[in-house]
Amino acid sequence: MKPVPFTIDSFKFVLDQVVEDLKGVFAGTNDILAILGAYYAARRVYGAVSTVAEAVYVHLLGRATNVDWVKNYGPWAVVTGSSEGIGRAYANELALRGLNIVLISRNERRLARAKSEIEMDCKVNVQYIVADFAAENQGDLYKTIETALADKEVGLLVNNVGVMYDYPDVLLNITQQKLWQLIYVNIGAATMMTHMLLPGMVERGKGGVVVVSSGSSTQMTPQMTVYSATKRYLDYFIHSLAYEYRDSGVTFQCLIPFYTATRMTGYSERLSKGGWIVPDASRYANSAIETFGRSQCTTGYFPHTLQLWIGQAVPNWLWMWGSEKLNNSLRKEALARLAKRATKYGSQEVLSDANKS
Ligand SMILES: NC(=O)c1ccc[n+]([C@@H]2O[C@H](COP(=O)([O-])OP(=O)(O)OC[C@H]3O[C@@H](n4cnc5c(N)ncnc54)[C@H](OP(=O)(O)O)[C@@H]3O)[C@@H](O)[C@H]2O)c1
Repeated sequence: MKPVPFTIDSFKFVLDQVVEDLKGVFAGTNDILAILGAYYAARRVYGAVSTVAEAVYVHLLGRATNVDWVKNYGPWAVVTGSSEGIGRAYANELALRGLNIVLISRNERRLARAKSEIEMDCKVNVQYIVADFAAENQGDLYKTIETALADKEVGLLVNNVGVMYDYPDVLLNITQQKLWQLIYVNIGAATMMTHMLLPGMVERGKGGVVVVSSGSSTQMTPQMTVYSATKRYLDYFIHSLAYEYRDSGVTFQCLIPFYTATRMTGYSERLSKGGWIVPDASRYANSAIETFGRSQCTTGYFPHTLQLWIGQAVPNWLWMWGSEKLNNSLRKEALARLAKRATKYGSQEVLSDANKS
């Protein structure tokens, strides 16, 4: 047997050696961990500071600037879903800035009223097109709209039209008819209207396209599943478009409002009451319009930005759990209201599940 070059005669000796060696290794590791920790902390602080700075820029500084909307974008603006709610209020804001308006919705009586009110208040030309974006013949629908807009230089398109379920509910309680309506109105209208009007803007080298998405697109929202998914489509749609046409002179924006007191939220008394967190359509539009050209994606309203921050800060499971709880209680409230109306009018029709109609 060959002799061993070194003999280890003590376990303690080996242990001491190993500990000494490891000390050297960990001293280096501690430095690396400290650097990584400092880098992570600096990034978090930078992220927080730039988020707040951006919010100040978007929500506060916008109000200090004077924009010539007619010169920058063009003489006409088209607003879809504009006989009432956010669309109607946004149209009013555009008219106050001197733009002529084309309103598009289904109900002619409401459109005519909006037209005469805006014309009287803002002294601009207002026209309307009666159209149902959920119409069965989608081809004819867009041909009719295109013909009606043919003689107009449309510089701004506000893709506002949108539908939700009649109240939050799970997928299998929503009819196919309602699902098609969500797809045609929330996805189809913005896609086809933009496809129709963007060429003129690109040719003129100026213009603007806004989509009204929703805060529900920023996180998965149970019981508003299809609605929030259609809104997510709009987010992707506008951001990719903005990249594709970044040198065209056209401005793109995705608005992601949270709860706003309109007919859409009429299923809940709490939401319909409104307030600082849940503004009415006029307050929301008055704030949102000032962010146009300042942010490609914004809630449009500072208290909604606070809600967005809270949503982003909580873990996903907590968001899902909270949304489900909130939507359960909103549905309960909506059903109770329907039951009350059914008792009052003595009709079972009112009680029939609205989401199934
Ligand atoms: N309210 C909220 O809490 C909230 C929150 C986030 C996002 N949003 C989004 O904001 C946008 C506006 O919502 P809103 O609350 O103002 O809604 P709203 O009060 O229900 O108004 C919707 C407008 O769209 C029109 N409309 C509905 N279905 C139509 C169809 N099939 N074809 C043509 N026009 C149609 C309605 O007029 P007619 O009935 O006369 O057609 C009305 O002018 C929507 O995209 C919505 O998803 C709303």
